[in-house]
Amino acid sequence: MAKAKSYYFCSECGYQSSSWLGRCPECGKFGTMQEEVIQASKPSKTAKGNATTGVSKPKPIHEVSTSETQRIPTQCAEFDRVLGGGIVPGSLLLLGGEPGIGKSTLLLQTALAIPGKRVLYVSGEESEQQIKMRADRINNGGETDCYVVSETVTQRILECVDEVKPDLLIVDSIQTICTEAIDSSAGSISQIRECTAEFQRFAKESGIPVLLVGHITKEGSLAGPKVMEHIVDCVLQFEGDRNYGYRMLRSLKNRFGSTAEIGIFEMQGDGLREVENPSEFLLSQRDENLSGCAIAATLEGARPMFIEVQSLVSTAVYGTPQRNANGFDFRRLSMLLAVLEKRCGFKLGAKDVFLNIAGGIRVNDPAIDLAVACAILSSNVDIPIPPRYCFAAEMGLSGEVRPVSRVEHRIAEADRLGFEKIFVSKYNARSLNKKRFGLEIVEVSVIEQAFRELFA
Ligand code: TYD
Ligand code: MG
Repeated sequence: MAKAKSYYFCSECGYQSSSWLGRCPECGKFGTMQEEVIQASKPSKTAKGNATTGVSKPKPIHEVSTSETQRIPTQCAEFDRVLGGGIVPGSLLLLGGEPGIGKSTLLLQTALAIPGKRVLYVSGEESEQQIKMRADRINNGGETDCYVVSETVTQRILECVDEVKPDLLIVDSIQTICTEAIDSSAGSISQIRECTAEFQRFAKESGIPVLLVGHITKEGSLAGPKVMEHIVDCVLQFEGDRNYGYRMLRSLKNRFGSTAEIGIFEMQGDGLREVENPSEFLLSQRDENLSGCAIAATLEGARPMFIEVQSLVSTAVYGTPQRNANGFDFRRLSMLLAVLEKRCGFKLGAKDVFLNIAGGIRVNDPAIDLAVACAILSSNVDIPIPPRYCFAAEMGLSGEVRPVSRVEHRIAEADRLGFEKIFVSKYNARSLNKKRFGLEIVEVSVIEQAFRELFA
């Protein structure tokens, strides 16, 4: 028997070295090299076949046929939107997310719902009985052509594929899968890298798309080396606050579509439900006439999303005022507070400031800034903002109100939802045809102007 060899792998980039190094020469990170025992056994049949089969010949690009790359629609509009219109044959997708967020539920639900396609759902985490129990819970009642197996070795998974001949392979999760070609334990960097590469080879050669589930580390990145994200065609992330029902599916990388789109779901007792119109949903529980609330007209991808920003400003009890932000970047909050303090003369230095985005939603759109600033000001002076007002503008360091992208889109949606006034930047309003809209468009260029308009 061959002597067990150990190698060192960088947990960040997957760099391999035969000796321990304090700093990875590839990515420059310190203290990331981890030892792994590897025993290269005889190359398996599949590995050998892959190296020699499929002799590729270059051909002119116009001769490459795209007719066979018909996307497989998932029957779930939100999922398809994020994918860019369905699953591309031969692609390798990675779905990441925190434990318990609903990755397995989303994929099993998808597997059960795809019409006329055979799906093989491989789980390394749950037994077949547990998968069946989950499927009963989701209970879509329709005809399904879904096979399940509890398996952790790639070679045996590929044998199952030969037997079942599915149109889609789902593997939950990559961290529990191992290959016989390498002797280290499942979940180690070398295993993850090798298994991902094996699935990629399989997908490209057979044309069967593979959906992998990946775990997330406590820092929030996908567990495993970065090379895994380079290998796969799409990286999707499932996120949300576990205390709320909402879940968002984002795409961090997509070779076949836009990464700006998001899908919104709600976790219910019988699986995930698609949320088509998030604004109406998020605003429905709004209580009128409370100070510290403002509505932001944000865009996620091409879709407008109106969300409520809540803020509480109170006198600081301790010497150092407290600041807390839920669903909003903490450093951005500090910056906005500094702007309000320095440029506009609001004395927030001796106040505690708490900020919350309703519904447990996290927003990346900078157009939320003005709503955040106005919510803080409203709580500070204890005067409510009328419930039919909304805001769409970014704020600059000198207190100027800056334009945002696709403002007509936001205004049109505000109009549709029945808002009376929308606050936008003066520079956005210039090119607008205001007669098109039924609501009043308030142009502001600096934050004091908005303050006077609202609270004076
Ligand atoms: P799961 O898909 O197991 O999460 P992951 O695979 O990302 O770890 O989701 C588990 C959570 O979802 C669990 O807390 C229970 C909840 N859930 C529902 O609320 N309704 C359902 O129909 C299902 C199947 C799960
Ligand atoms: Mg799971």
